[in-house]
Amino acid sequence: MAQTNSSSGSNFRNHVSPDWYLLWYFAVLALLPHGTEQVFMVFGPLLAGLLLIALPFIAPSGERSPRRRPWAVAGVLLTVTAIAALWIEGERSPWSPNFDPRPLTPQIVGATSGPVFVGAQLFQEKSCLDCHLIQGRGGHRGPDLTFIADRLTKSDIIIRIVNGGVNMPAFGATLKPGEINDLVAFMESRTKHQSASGTTTSP
Ligand code: HEC
Repeated sequence: MAQTNSSSGSNFRNHVSPDWYLLWYFAVLALLPHGTEQVFMVFGPLLAGLLLIALPFIAPSGERSPRRRPWAVAGVLLTVTAIAALWIEGERSPWSPNFDPRPLTPQIVGATSGPVFVGAQLFQEKSCLDCHLIQGRGGHRGPDLTFIADRLTKSDIIIRIVNGGVNMPAFGATLKPGEINDLVAFMESRTKHQSASGTTTSP
């Protein structure tokens, strides 16, 4: 697991993501029926390993040229295709956070200092952007927050950040009150009016 902890003052690992070459496996685990992941994680690799060890004993001789082994070649191609498909699925599926979102630009943020700016930094450092879209950047796990201030009141936003929700972690215990205020200031600036004019209305 690759992890970056860019946040200061918090020892909570709030940005954990699978390495890119394991994303396909992450996708397999996420797509398995609920409750079977544990069994699969333990016995899947074990079975595969035992099979590979047993292979020379089961089939010690035979054709080696790939030209005369179309099924073997097809098997390898199928495996590669399956891994590629799972990988793409893991990259874009709504159940999977986007672990490497494109950063928000100053134009999108609409401020270069002050609470809105700091809030936008936190929004990225605390992985909010992994699950939420802001003007097309970010993840699809949670709702698009581009115009969140048009939909939710300030207290709704605070409640959601502090308590989390279905598939959203609660941040009340990991954010300092000042950080919550800055995040809320950034959220409050996400209105249609703001992104149309490109400037910040008062937070
Ligand atoms: C693991 C993914 C994930 C992360 C990380 C995450 N959220 Fe969410 N968020 C969600 C989901 C899913 C919902 C919908 C929850 C529900 O409806 O119960 C949501 C809902 C919200 C809402 C309400 C949206 C609406 O339309 O009602 C706000 C505001 C919000 N999140 C802000 C944040 C902020 C700020 C952060 C970072 C501190 C954050 N989220 C981090 C997944 C996430």
